[in-house]
Amino acid sequence: MDAHKRNLSKPDGLKLILALGFFVLAATEFAFGQQVKQPWVAPASAMSVQNPLKASPSGLNDAEGLYQQNCVICHGKTGASNGPAAGSLPQKPANFTDARMMKKATDGELFWKMTTGRAPMPSWQDRLSETQRWELVNYLRELTRKGQYKYLGAASKN
Ligand code: HEC
Repeated sequence: MDAHKRNLSKPDGLKLILALGFFVLAATEFAFGQQVKQPWVAPASAMSVQNPLKASPSGLNDAEGLYQQNCVICHGKTGASNGPAAGSLPQKPANFTDARMMKKATDGELFWKMTTGRAPMPSWQDRLSETQRWELVNYLRELTRKGQYKYLGAASKN
């Protein structure tokens, strides 16, 4: 929450929301014209790529800020697929608190999907550095871990 306040001054936040609003509208139009979506499968070569970064407090802290700025709008603060824009998307954002889904996904696969994007999710290749994308992979793993404790009340502070 603090990182959010620090990184987004009010006018910037508003611009971001407007920009995302237009993006979501455009993405919706695009996706409604498509056939039923095929499952999203990463190439085997991408799935086996190892994460070069170990999760570290500073990496997770960076990733938290990036996640708040770029991902919360769709994926939701805790990763539960319930961001403010989630309801108006033609496709449900991935739920990072779904432990079964996340267990099946390799780090390389999460990285590849982030890098490539698929409507309505944009590609993050040109918006985030490789390091930032790997840090985000580690952060998504944290969200999955925290999601497992939500019924015990531990996730409420996050
Ligand atoms: C405009 C809404 C939107 C934004 C913003 C967004 N996503 Fe997504 N994301 C989605 C949707 C929708 C899917 C599901 C796409 C599909 O399956 O076709 C998805 C899927 C994913 C997946 C694939 C999960 C899997 O295993 O299938 C990852 C990883 C991901 N998002 C990470 C991120 C990260 C990290 C950010 C921020 C940098 C982000 N997303 C921002 C909408 C969004």
